[in-house]
Amino acid sequence: MEDWRAELEALEREGQAAIAAVAGVPELEQVRVQFLGRKGRLTAILRGVAGIPPAERPAVGARANTAKAALEAALEARRAHLEAAAREAAVARERVDVTLPGRPVGGGRLHPLTKILQEICAVFVEMGFQVVEGPEVEWDYYNFEALNIPEHHPARDMWDTFWVNPASAGTERPMLLRTHTSPMQIRVMEATRPPVRVIVPGKCYRYEAVDASHESQFHQVEGLAVDTGITFAHLKGTLQRFARRVFGEERRVRFRCDYFPFVEPGVDMSIDCFVCQGAGCRLCKGTGWIEILGAGMVHPDVLARVGYDPSVYTGFAFGMGPARIAMLKHGIEDIRLFHGNDPRFLRQFA
Ligand code: PHE
Repeated sequence: MEDWRAELEALEREGQAAIAAVAGVPELEQVRVQFLGRKGRLTAILRGVAGIPPAERPAVGARANTAKAALEAALEARRAHLEAAAREAAVARERVDVTLPGRPVGGGRLHPLTKILQEICAVFVEMGFQVVEGPEVEWDYYNFEALNIPEHHPARDMWDTFWVNPASAGTERPMLLRTHTSPMQIRVMEATRPPVRVIVPGKCYRYEAVDASHESQFHQVEGLAVDTGITFAHLKGTLQRFARRVFGEERRVRFRCDYFPFVEPGVDMSIDCFVCQGAGCRLCKGTGWIEILGAGMVHPDVLARVGYDPSVYTGFAFGMGPARIAMLKHGIEDIRLFHGNDPRFLRQFA
């Protein structure tokens, strides 16, 4: 066999093998240059044609063309194959099984304090009270002064106070974190004329040591009703209704004298112990009664200070700690659990 024919057959065979061995598109180009490029093996073989008899030259050209066409076709087929494989690999990498079941989303729920606040407010809303809210950073005037607690009055010791600017305690308009929601009594009465029926949930602050029943930040719910002809009987009826709605219709309530400078008379209200039905147990500390709020008839001087004529208008006010109400209702022994962020505690109030 002629040398050129053997060389072209070897070229085609080895070219096919090289193309088949290529693993990526960039290497494919190197193989093409090596075999079919201007300085490649085919060119080198065709250069040798000079030494071949002229009659044979067309045959050499024809064979060279079939080798070239075969390799070009093989290159193209290989390129298409490699590109398809790369696409498939990319798709496989990004594959998402949309038929997999989703991960369960933990259901949100209201915090137990939020729930008790809503429950307490709802009971009074049913009785015609309107929910209002006020500032937590408050003037000394609203927190104390207007509530019959002037500077240096010993009753100030009932409320250990966070002063916003400690120096402000001695200045003309001292500012503080409200120690109770009672300042809203004044703000509401200043802003409206009787009749007044409001319920005020909100955060309060006291500069106190934290223990199982006290936190320095806590909630209160304040109530205020002012109109002509309001008597202590209205106070008793309203608060008894509240106690029975929250702690059970069979509850009895007890009022005893207590002192708050902004009410006269002042009282605290207890409910009969719902654990021992009044027999005496650990919850009621053997007394049969559980104290749940402070209240009283709005002091005439407080009414006069906001421009309500105390000879025309009377009113009652009350204040309670909703955390205490929730603790009693649910048998929670430590107030710190509410803000301890332990999901096992919080989940129980789903
Ligand atoms: N503000 C009082 C307290 O924090 C509670 C109270 C409110 C008492 C309204 C009487 C009337 O202790």
